[in-house]
Amino acid sequence: MNVPLAPRALVGLALVLTVSTPPAQQPGQTPPDTNAITPATIDLGRAIFHGKGTCFMCHGPQLEGTQIAPTLKAHAWRDAKNGQFDEIFRVVTHGVPSTVMVAFPGGISRAEAFSVTSYVWSVNNRKVKP
Ligand code: HEC
Repeated sequence: MNVPLAPRALVGLALVLTVSTPPAQQPGQTPPDTNAITPATIDLGRAIFHGKGTCFMCHGPQLEGTQIAPTLKAHAWRDAKNGQFDEIFRVVTHGVPSTVMVAFPGGISRAEAFSVTSYVWSVNNRKVKP
C-alpha cells in the first residue's frame, strides 16, 4: 500500500503527543497543570485543611490567619513565593525551618498535601469558597 507521507507524519505526531502528555494531578508534579485540578480534589483538600491536616487551627477556618500563622488568602507571601502552586506545595511538604510550620502537618501524605495545596491555590485563583 502506498500511504502518502504527510498523513503518516501526522499519525506519528499524534502518537508522540499522546504518549508525552503527562498524567494529570500526579502528587509532587511541579509545576502542575492547575487547569486539571478537579472540584473533587478541591473538596478533598478542604476536608484535609479542616481535619487531618490541622491547617485551620493555625491559619484559620476561612484561611483568614490567626495570631499564630498568616492568612493563606492573597497576601505578601513570605515563604510560598507569589502564592504559586508549586511554592505552596513545597512549604506544605518541607515546612518553614525554625517555625511551627512543619512538613506534612498532621501527618498528611504526599497525595493529601497535593489536595490541600489544590484547595488553598483554588481559593486564591479560582474564587473557590474557603
Ligand atoms: C501549628 C501551626 C500550623 C499548622 C498546623 C499549619 N501551619 Fe502553615 N504556617 C504556620 C506558620 C507559623 C507559618 C509562617 C512561617 C513563617 O514564620 O514564615 C506558616 C506558613 C504557611 C504557608 C506559607 C505562607 C506564606 O506567607 O508564604 C503555607 C502555604 C502554609 N503555611 C500552609 C499550611 C497548610 C496547607 C497547612 C495544613 C496542611 C498548614 N500550613 C498547617 C503555622 C502552621
